[in-house]
Amino acid sequence: MASNWTPDGWQGHEARHLPRYDDAAELARVEATLANYPPLVFAGEARALKAELAEIAGGRAFLLQGGDCAESFAEFHPNNIRDTFRVLLQMAVVLTFASKMPVTKVGRMAGQFAKPRSSATETIDGVELPSYLGDNINGIEFDAATRRPDPERMVKAYSQAAATLNLIRAFSTGGYANLRQVHQWTLDHIGRSPWAAKFAETADRIGEALDFMAACGVDPSTVPQLQGTSFYTSHEALLLPYEQAMTRRDSLTGDWYDTSAHMLWIGDRTRFAGSAHVEYLRGVGNPIGLKCGPSLKPDELLGLLDTLNPAREPGRMTLISRFGDDKVEAALPPLVRAVTRAGHPVVWSCDPMHGNVVKSNSGYKTRPFDRILNEVRGFFAFHRAEGTHAGGIHIEMTGQDVTECVGGAVAITHEALGDRYHTHCDPRLNAAQSLELAFLLAEMLNLEAVERTANAA
Ligand code: PEP
Ligand code: CO
Repeated sequence: MASNWTPDGWQGHEARHLPRYDDAAELARVEATLANYPPLVFAGEARALKAELAEIAGGRAFLLQGGDCAESFAEFHPNNIRDTFRVLLQMAVVLTFASKMPVTKVGRMAGQFAKPRSSATETIDGVELPSYLGDNINGIEFDAATRRPDPERMVKAYSQAAATLNLIRAFSTGGYANLRQVHQWTLDHIGRSPWAAKFAETADRIGEALDFMAACGVDPSTVPQLQGTSFYTSHEALLLPYEQAMTRRDSLTGDWYDTSAHMLWIGDRTRFAGSAHVEYLRGVGNPIGLKCGPSLKPDELLGLLDTLNPAREPGRMTLISRFGDDKVEAALPPLVRAVTRAGHPVVWSCDPMHGNVVKSNSGYKTRPFDRILNEVRGFFAFHRAEGTHAGGIHIEMTGQDVTECVGGAVAITHEALGDRYHTHCDPRLNAAQSLELAFLLAEMLNLEAVERTANAA
């Protein structure tokens, strides 16, 4: 356990990107309420995820992490949860089939509300108001009352996270995720994509494999793993008053855990040395993600790893690189080499979203699909050449047929962005684009698998 650490110790550190609540008594009341609510996850589950991530750090598995940029109260609907969950399952099946490795599934779901913004305020027609910071802090409509940071929103976010997680748990273990359902997971709106046929082909081959195994006496009734799946939750641990209120001591080990999600990550804007966010997360036992952007220096990264994972526990740290397709080639090698040299066991995961945002002529923020694929290619190419494991992918996506990222096989044009641009923050891959990305990843993982087999022979 971390030394000299308390759940509120972060308050003595520099905290960037936190809202200013104007009523301290109201905030304290909400925090006390949340502190009495049941934990959303159990510490043992966070440890199970850590054990899976340790396998990935060792090169024996792959991480698929994805979901909304920002969950919202407005988009809260069982169909949205189901569709995002289903696309993640489809992607995982494609990846597992290609790589012959277990794929750990982690949603940016059930708690991904708070957003760091480039500017604390927004000015429209001479009126200046606080920026929108995520539905657990304030509302997106541009009026003074809605933009006021309101502590009560944390309680609403908690209940939405609880209900979302409940449905995810039901889907994961209640039969929906049974591998026998793989054909039924096809979505209407990937039907138009050339990748839909390829998915159907993969589903056929999985069906054949299951038939063969059933003939040998291995089927979902005898092997529980075929009946369901494990699925974990994660979000950026940005809103520290909320995370602190959700911190509990594990009754089995006596260690502290942030029970708001299985995995928490530190954003690129809050990972500086001495930051309140680093201070808070160093003391909880959950697996931790750390976003690595272009300004991160190797020495700084090693310092952060020593603080966050002094015991060098495999599975504790996932480094999520997000450079941009034009920077990955120069920026990734020094970090990977420094970490390898220092002997820190980490999962390297690629976020090809946050370094590839452009402003479209149509006025929308978008991400060109080609640039996303390029960053992924650069990430895999470097790891393959270096002999290190390209361990995962971190994406902003949705199961809906949105038009937020340009490109893809069913090409979204700049002109079409306005058709179904629903995100509350950054542009997400839609269902068809997510599946297309999975097939590209599958190709790269397949190459890695072939080399692994050759080296073992
Ligand atoms: C995010 O993942 O939503 C995010 C804000 O990323 P980053 O911290 O890498 O900019
Ligand atoms: Co984002």
